Amino acid sequence: MKPALVFGTRPEIIKLAPVVRAFLEMGIKPLLIHTGQHYDYEMSRIFLEELELPPIDYHLEVGSGTQAEQTGKAMIKIEKVLMEERPDVTLVQGDTNTVLAGALASVKLKIPVAHVEAGLRSFDRTMPEEINRILADHASEVLFPPTEEARKNLEREGITENVYVVGNTIVDAVLQNSLVAEKKSDVLERLDLKPKEYILITAHRAENTDSWENLTRLVEILESLPMMAVYPIHPRTEGRLKRFGLWERVASIENLILTKPLGYLDFLRLEKNAFAVMTDSGGVQEEAIILDVPCLTLRYNTERPETVKAGGNILVGLERERVLRYLQRLIEDRDFYEKMAKAPNPFGDGKAGEKIAKILVGLYEKGELKVKS
Ligand code: UD1
Ligand code: UDP
Repeated sequence: MKPALVFGTRPEIIKLAPVVRAFLEMGIKPLLIHTGQHYDYEMSRIFLEELELPPIDYHLEVGSGTQAEQTGKAMIKIEKVLMEERPDVTLVQGDTNTVLAGALASVKLKIPVAHVEAGLRSFDRTMPEEINRILADHASEVLFPPTEEARKNLEREGITENVYVVGNTIVDAVLQNSLVAEKKSDVLERLDLKPKEYILITAHRAENTDSWENLTRLVEILESLPMMAVYPIHPRTEGRLKRFGLWERVASIENLILTKPLGYLDFLRLEKNAFAVMTDSGGVQEEAIILDVPCLTLRYNTERPETVKAGGNILVGLERERVLRYLQRLIEDRDFYEKMAKAPNPFGDGKAGEKIAKILVGLYEKGELKVKS
């Protein structure tokens, strides 16, 4: 069997690495196609190295652009590779433009698509990711929702065949890399941070960074934090802060350490030892509940509602008063802190990669891995 994996951004590399590992353990070498949606060393190559992925077969160097430019360019380049290689299945993960491009290019060549992390919905159609998720799910033949809740979203849209709830491969990634991170990363020492005495922040969503108004609200939150904080900054956010003339303001906040985006081992160690995380990232919301760290999400909705229901995540939006109120409560109220930190992980047992590879091989062997007429 010849599976192709199409990916292009930081979270896709992290979350597909366990699937690559599982295929290799079954003696199958998957074809690796990197669109190059992310291209800086610290947004891409560092993860290929740290997660010890085999060499990439195709680097498509799509790069940045408008939504249509990036998706269109990726589709054209992915199509060429798929026509030449004719894999038995194309795997995509998540909700980026790379995912939409990979899914559309593949299904139109009658190569079945398997969507890892299917069925997530924020129900906010102004997010580019929501459109990508919906379209990728509907272009897919095999769907791997991480939770029962995600499966139900698919069912509501009429997708019921070849749907397998397998958990989220982020649990595999965390379990596979946490100990390595504790051993290999010296990030706490480098940044002079003590365990549980700092907040870890990430924010990069278009809705938070693309308007001056929202980015200013984020800056105002950063200016009011009641303890030390560290913010590995996404290139999108850095670019917007500079364009809106807000960079100097952020750089001069005394109790905030700004760093370049970090590798996975450094980031995991920082996350595991954080007092709390504040984020608009999908992957970071998931990792926080896996690592027993309270999470405040800088959004008004989430396609990971399981984390909120479990009690480990609170949606605070860009409301400074709300953020500060919850941070203060976390600092002062030990029971509240413990309850958030101990919220149960809803994303499975860390064997999602293995399950995905086995299910796909099983379908292939039964001759059921094809685009249905
Ligand atoms: C993309 C995904 C988002 C995901 C995020 C993961 C879409 C629509 N969005 O957002 O869902 O959460 O990746 O991090 O696919 N840039 C660089 N260097 C890089 C990559 C990007 O400087 O290596 C800058 C460029 O100015 C670019 C901007 O960041 O225009 C945005 O990059 P892009 O890939 O379009 O979207 P992300 O914000 O990264
Ligand atoms: N991450 C990382 N270094 C950083 C910030 C994040 O390794 O500086 C990892 C994080 O552990 C998580 C993933 O990147 O696994 C999340 O990616 P991102 O926030 O870019 O995208 P999203 O999950 O929102 O799509």
